[in-house]
Amino acid sequence: MKKVLVTGGTGVVGKTLVKQLIKKGCDVRILTRHKFHAGAGNFIDLTTFSGKDQGALNGKDHSLSKIELFSGDIRDADALARAVKDVSTVFHLAAVLDNYSLSRKDHFQGKNLYDVYREVNVKATEMLVKQACKAGVDRIVFFSSISVYGKNGRDNFADETTPFCPDSLYAVSKAEAEKYVLAGINHKKQPIGVVLRPASVYGPREKKNYTRLIKIMQHGFFVTVGKGRTKRTLIHDHDLAKAAIIAAEHPKARGKIYNVSDGRVHSLNDIRQAIAKALDKKYVNICIPEKLVCFLIFLLGKFMNGRSIASGLENMVTDMTVSADKIQYELGFKPEMQLDEGWQDAVKRAI
Ligand SMILES: NC(=O)c1ccc[n+]([C@@H]2O[C@H](COP(=O)([O-])OP(=O)(O)OC[C@H]3O[C@@H](n4cnc5c(N)ncnc54)[C@H](OP(=O)(O)O)[C@@H]3O)[C@@H](O)[C@H]2O)c1
Repeated sequence: MKKVLVTGGTGVVGKTLVKQLIKKGCDVRILTRHKFHAGAGNFIDLTTFSGKDQGALNGKDHSLSKIELFSGDIRDADALARAVKDVSTVFHLAAVLDNYSLSRKDHFQGKNLYDVYREVNVKATEMLVKQACKAGVDRIVFFSSISVYGKNGRDNFADETTPFCPDSLYAVSKAEAEKYVLAGINHKKQPIGVVLRPASVYGPREKKNYTRLIKIMQHGFFVTVGKGRTKRTLIHDHDLAKAAIIAAEHPKARGKIYNVSDGRVHSLNDIRQAIAKALDKKYVNICIPEKLVCFLIFLLGKFMNGRSIASGLENMVTDMTVSADKIQYELGFKPEMQLDEGWQDAVKRAI
């Protein structure tokens, strides 16, 4: 694996992956809609990919010269054809995750989230696989999501054989895109795709849910539903990037699907305690009875406008857990970041 393409290389997970690839000695091409520059504005600061802060490059920072910029939209077939040229491996992370991921151009063109999910997450993946097969790419590692399993309910635990039950547009788009990835074959008729289904990602760059949690706890309180026993599986972005590199290189990974987590199941209480420990802060825990939340979900669900709040509340009382044994046994992936250490790292840079 010498020359690689990373779509979504500017995102939360992508930046960590790019750093690890550079440290490994790869030449990395990043497909992005933006332009690279050391300045501000609509440009990306290249130094965010620098390995200096981790002491990775022993003084002289060669990392930036290892990055090749490819400016383009993943929905553009020509841009994709150019982007996959001469690369052996593609890490496909580019995606629309939520409303915030819509570009100003999309808004301006009056596109809604449904259109953009289909264009970016599904159709662009189909095109990318097609162009990659044509160009002789040997491996595509696709970042799907455990959301394809839907809400498992209490005590359910999805593994890679659990049927799809996606309950959001995002999850539907990921489930559909996986099929295109798994259908890709090389000239020897071997599958080139590997599907990773990461659990909930956290780490120093995460900007969404967990950052909100950290900010709330910095104010000295926390809200728990019931006894805080709702279960989650997590993965730190450092370990997810590591898993992706293993999936790109391991001969057994071709054509396979792997859940990726730190291998444990955590309650929301465990997560809250790890954050508090990392923040070194005392806090007041405000408990809301679970029955009250379930009643609110029921009431809100009856009104159109309340649906997104109801779904948010439902998430707080629904377990979202997966088994990630397969990637450990089959590919030898060993997560390095357990809860306390992972949150120390995440909090250090989030505050
Ligand atoms: N974060 C999580 O909790 C989580 C959990 C499970 C799975 N995943 C999956 O992991 C992957 C990475 O997630 P993330 O959190 O790092 O996402 P993110 O921070 O939102 O980054 C999304 C990336 O997609 C690129 N992108 C979006 N639309 C594009 C377009 N039209 N053309 C080209 N590039 C486009 C963006 O690049 P530019 O803006 O530079 O163009 C950006 O680098 C995604 O596939 C996601 O579904 C994430």
